Amino acid sequence: MSKNIVAASILSADLCSLGDDIDRAQRAGADYLHFDVMDGVFVNNISYGIPVLDSVRKYTDMFLDVHLMITEPVRYVSRFAEYGADMITFHLEAARDVKKTIDEIKKTGRRAGIALKPATPFSEVIPYFADIDMLLIMTVEPGFGGQGLIPETIDKLREAKRYADEHGICADIEVDGGINGDNAAMIRQAGANVLVAGSYIFKSDDITASVKALRG
Ligand code: DX5
Ligand code: ZN
Repeated sequence: MSKNIVAASILSADLCSLGDDIDRAQRAGADYLHFDVMDGVFVNNISYGIPVLDSVRKYTDMFLDVHLMITEPVRYVSRFAEYGADMITFHLEAARDVKKTIDEIKKTGRRAGIALKPATPFSEVIPYFADIDMLLIMTVEPGFGGQGLIPETIDKLREAKRYADEHGICADIEVDGGINGDNAAMIRQAGANVLVAGSYIFKSDDITASVKALRG
């Protein structure tokens, strides 16, 4: 009965053998590949972008869940869509015109998501909640894998889930950062149905068990 989704963040994969790591994640049962794009401006790190996405898209038919941590994401929506994103999630804090950014994503036929940093209140996304396919509640400060979950973000997750239920909003609710087998059950119960994990999946000795623990 569980329709929880597990998204494997390739930020923690070995980029020199990315194909092998994608295969391992898929064999272990991961549903999505989570693709973190960082521009060194919106966050204090630089990851990878369109050329890597292009290669990944040609390699796998897995659902590609692209998380844009970049300033003014609207500038790049069409290119990420063209090069293989299935879902494009951008940060509310990074977009000057949030509505236009959602519309641009939808115009490409891809699914649209909005991400919130830990300090951004849920109330700021309410005007857009009914228009998006997914809300991403960051459970760490975006920029790096391998951090510990910030407990205060769970209240925001509960608040988002309660609001969605009360208003008939059926967007997915995703969490990202510090998710592991010890906190997954609590997080699912708080309202998330898409769980992103990087280090817990790719640094695991038993990747199948890790994916299973996340899915519940
Ligand atoms: C952080 C990224 C995450 C990261 C999660 O900014 O958005 O997707 O890969 O890594 P873990 O699961 O190791 O916290
Ligand atoms: Zn991410």
